[in-house]
Amino acid sequence: MAVMNFGGVDESVVTRTEFPLEKAREVLKNETIAVIGYGVQGPGQSLNLRDNGFNVIVGQRKGGKTWAKAVADGWVPGETLFEIEEACQRATIVQYLLSDAAQIEVWPRIKEHLTPGKALYFSHGFGITYKGRTHIIPSTDIDVILVAPKGSGTSLRRMFLQGRGLNSSYAVFQDATGRAWERAVALGIGVGSGYLFETTFKKEVYSDLTGERGTLMGAIQGLLLAQYETLRENGHDPSEAFNETVEELTQSLMPLFAENGMDWMYANCSTTAQRGALDWMTPFHDATKPVFEKLYKEVACGNEAQRSIDTNSKPDYREGLDRELKALRESEMWRTGAVVRKLRPENN
Ligand SMILES: NC(=O)c1ccc[n+]([C@@H]2O[C@H](COP(=O)([O-])OP(=O)(O)OC[C@H]3O[C@@H](n4cnc5c(N)ncnc54)[C@H](OP(=O)(O)O)[C@@H]3O)[C@@H](O)[C@H]2O)c1
Repeated sequence: MAVMNFGGVDESVVTRTEFPLEKAREVLKNETIAVIGYGVQGPGQSLNLRDNGFNVIVGQRKGGKTWAKAVADGWVPGETLFEIEEACQRATIVQYLLSDAAQIEVWPRIKEHLTPGKALYFSHGFGITYKGRTHIIPSTDIDVILVAPKGSGTSLRRMFLQGRGLNSSYAVFQDATGRAWERAVALGIGVGSGYLFETTFKKEVYSDLTGERGTLMGAIQGLLLAQYETLRENGHDPSEAFNETVEELTQSLMPLFAENGMDWMYANCSTTAQRGALDWMTPFHDATKPVFEKLYKEVACGNEAQRSIDTNSKPDYREGLDRELKALRESEMWRTGAVVRKLRPENN
């Protein structure tokens, strides 16, 4: 492990320098890794592990589009692709990458295959942290570990193919074999992580639920819409409102602060923009901080998890979701966005 100083705080991280791929292969040389679920994380993690030379099989329910996708990606039924229970039975490490709601439903059928010494791996702390609600309670004679890539499975695969790596957190919840740490880290390197930082299942799920409800997804839509509406209510045309709210942000400014930080982005804007940004960042911070505090409390007390379990396990979940996403897509701001995207020179 390497100790790095992050903004004045020392943290231990694992990089490919201390834990190279050869070491990961050595740690997992006698393991059969079953990746259960071939949704978003499943393909990214299983294909990266396979290309990195690990012994991987996939467990996926038969018959649907997803099974066909696994076959198209080169997984062979009866050799490297199995029904979920059979894959769990064959594996020594089970990577449980079904959707969080499906994990709850399928758990009673797979737990009998998690015999002593095996490892159960998650990419989210949800199932274990909220075990009172999910009823996912592993027996004490198996390792329970986590590697959570900080991004979509699609990016994990894409960045792997580009020779890059997505950062991941890792955690050990239960160490029955004495090998849980090295299994977790070796898998983290194997799935194509950039660097690995340590967490706990609880911290992973609290930060993840806060992040996706907050700046990564929920807050960003709320903030963008509030500004777009204000401009429209004051007589600005959709094109002007959208460009000043979304297009300039995603196309011009985000890449700048992703590369070199916020001060560098500010330094590369006009003096008028700099002054305004420096003056207004505090009122925006102060207005939104109470919302983030409320959000964190709702996550920590389990209300957010319960809402997600209740909604995602409804039989008509998909129809309801599609209706909500359609409303977002058909809102004026995002209909304007569709036209603006079409007008980008690269799309003309
Ligand atoms: N999405 C991400 O990029 C991301 C990022 C970081 C961590 N994670 C975590 O990684 C894990 C997997 O997430 P994901 O987004 O990859 O999941 P997902 O795409 O929603 O997973 C769908 C998978 O679950 C299967 N499934 C759904 N309902 C099922 C049921 N009732 N019985 C059996 N199989 C069922 C699907 O098979 P069918 O197609 O046959 O329905 C498919 O293989 C989760 O813990 C998630 O929190 C995800």
